[in-house]
Amino acid sequence: MESAKKTDLANLMWSEKYRPKKLGQVVDQKEIIKGISNLIKSPDIPHMLFAGPAGVGKTTTALCIAMELLGEEWRKNTLELNASDERGIKMVRERVKEFAASIKLAGDREFGRPKIIILDEADEMTSEAQTALRRIIEDSARTTRFIIICNYLSQIIEPIQSRCVVFRFTRLPKEDVIDHLKMICEQQKAKYEEKALAQIYEATGGDLRHSINIMQAAAGMGSVSMASVTSAIGISGRARVGEVLRLAMSGRFNDSRAKLLELTQVYGISEGDFMKYANEEAYEMRIEKPEEFAAIMAEYDYRLAAGAHPEIQLSALLAQLGKLTKK
Ligand SMILES: Nc1ncnc2c1ncn2[C@@H]1O[C@H](COP(=O)(O)OP(=O)(O)OP(=O)(O)O)[C@@H](O)[C@H]1O
Ligand SMILES: [Mg+2]
Repeated sequence: MESAKKTDLANLMWSEKYRPKKLGQVVDQKEIIKGISNLIKSPDIPHMLFAGPAGVGKTTTALCIAMELLGEEWRKNTLELNASDERGIKMVRERVKEFAASIKLAGDREFGRPKIIILDEADEMTSEAQTALRRIIEDSARTTRFIIICNYLSQIIEPIQSRCVVFRFTRLPKEDVIDHLKMICEQQKAKYEEKALAQIYEATGGDLRHSINIMQAAAGMGSVSMASVTSAIGISGRARVGEVLRLAMSGRFNDSRAKLLELTQVYGISEGDFMKYANEEAYEMRIEKPEEFAAIMAEYDYRLAAGAHPEIQLSALLAQLGKLTKK
């Protein structure tokens, strides 16, 4: 189920479909890629720490390292954790322990290659959690190597920084972004205007994921033109959330859910922003039963804050809103 869902998403979103699978395919970040390619040739690779802005290839590079180092069996020997998703350091500790134990069973360090743990969004961890993480890193050092990813290096405690080789990723230059966008258009057989691609770059400032998402949204309007890019960029998140609400409240659950997924997955609206915009829009729409609406919103806001699965919760929220107006 899980993997089937992943494949669907991978085909739906160009940013996933065109995610590099080899270090050599990563756009720009040349010095980093060179450094890493050398490091992973050595028999004892170090822990690594990647820092830098969104959408410039940090997670991609970490996955490429796992694939190049571990070959076909990389999935089995790689653990991907998201520090902000999981419920705290306890979960990280348990998952790492479990993973390390499964390695022992499978026969230690096949081919002398350690297993890899990719810990994304590590700067979301409290410093207590990071201190605990530091111990976990040391305890599992015999069999595993960590690739720790963050946006802000300053948020990572010094004892972790000093145990890793640090790589600072930077925003991607204009020419490289445009070339990459062109390559995708050609593969997708999407028509594009050169000027429109430059406009995408201006709006996203070297965040390649965001660039690809805008381009996909524009292409969905017919072609990647100045006009479609302008509207893809200018689409107000709030207006779109309003549309999801209207569909849900008119009992069109499936349509509203499809729009919701487009918003969160193609446009990258977070569940937090969704809730905020939904709240603002609803009161402007002058819904019939604001007090019941408020109670439902509060319930789902709480569930999301408690760490429940966002896609499941937001879908359930739409179903609840659908009942609201039928009464
Ligand atoms: N340097 C790059 N080369 C090729 N594709 C890239 C690069 N950077 C980003 N992309 C594209 O953007 C998508 C997201 O990239 P990635 O997940 O590596 O970003 P990130 O740096 O980890 O960002 P975040 O901090 O938001 O997690 C990739 O799937 C890929 O399509
Ligand atoms: Mg990432």
